[in-house]
Amino acid sequence: MRTNIQDSVRSETEDFREHVLSGLGLESKRIASRYFYDAEGDRIFQRIMASPEYYLTRAEDEILRERTDELIEALVNGYERFTIVEMGAGDGTKTKHLLRRAIQQGRDPLYVPIDISRHVLRELEMSLQAELPQLRTKGEQGDYFEAIQGSFADDSEPKVILFLGSNIGNLDRERAIALLKGVAEHMGTRDRFLVGFDRKKDPAIILNAYNDAEGHTRDFNLNLLHRINRELGADFRVDRFIHAPVYCPSTGRALSYLVSSCDQTVHIPGAKEIIRFREWEAIHTETSQKYDDRMINDLARNAGLVVAEIFTDSQGLFLDVIFQLDQRSA
Ligand code: AVI
Repeated sequence: MRTNIQDSVRSETEDFREHVLSGLGLESKRIASRYFYDAEGDRIFQRIMASPEYYLTRAEDEILRERTDELIEALVNGYERFTIVEMGAGDGTKTKHLLRRAIQQGRDPLYVPIDISRHVLRELEMSLQAELPQLRTKGEQGDYFEAIQGSFADDSEPKVILFLGSNIGNLDRERAIALLKGVAEHMGTRDRFLVGFDRKKDPAIILNAYNDAEGHTRDFNLNLLHRINRELGADFRVDRFIHAPVYCPSTGRALSYLVSSCDQTVHIPGAKEIIRFREWEAIHTETSQKYDDRMINDLARNAGLVVAEIFTDSQGLFLDVIFQLDQRSA
């Protein structure tokens, strides 16, 4: 057992090394945003979500808190027993609004939170046990699709799949369609898929969300370089990089970069060559897509889904969209 854990940690580290070396070897350097989330990255992300500029979490929480009855009606109609599968459950704060209310209404949901982190799942299960002891739960650690397949094997209850927080925005269009399609393939006609989308809006509001005054997003972005130093034994001089977010209103993409403030070199054990940065050369670290209705319909159409209902917050910042199977493509 001990060796297995060590082996899997080693192979995760080696996957990370391979990814970093190939990304930094490209003409336009890049590292995928999924590597933000080590223990320190998770902690900083909590601070981002609590910051005044990062409106996404509050707006979606408002939808799930204020529109709970309507959401439950749209998701499960008259069913008493149903399964809620959540992809990337995190601390489940928003979903607890739905679960709590469904139980108050005398329903009997089974909650299947899926998360990559065992630690996150354990914490969530403990909090559910304390707050909603009557709730049926079955946490699944790991890959979304494997876990979905497992939990969809039993089709005695209708399913609700949740993908909240505009996590979809961190995927490019092809990957977003593949994810929606991957879920749609497991859905039946009475199942519903609730996806959180951050909307296009005043560019200044979006840019501020990725450039908060306290510098949490800066720390989050720079933590990637600290992580490479910690885990891969590299020697990034983190103070020589600048957090540089931009927002393009025509594509709706918020892009985060780490920009080298001088000519410099970095050593990463395992690299064939020294990594060189020219002054003002950038590493692209994240894309956070913002959507309009046309883009959401385009994703749905390409995944064999249709929009069943749309919920928004009081300021119209964020959308929670309920999809169902497009019967015409069945
Ligand atoms: C997780 N994801 C939806 C966040 C976003 O807004 O793209 C991650 C994040 N990056 C910087 N701030 C928050």
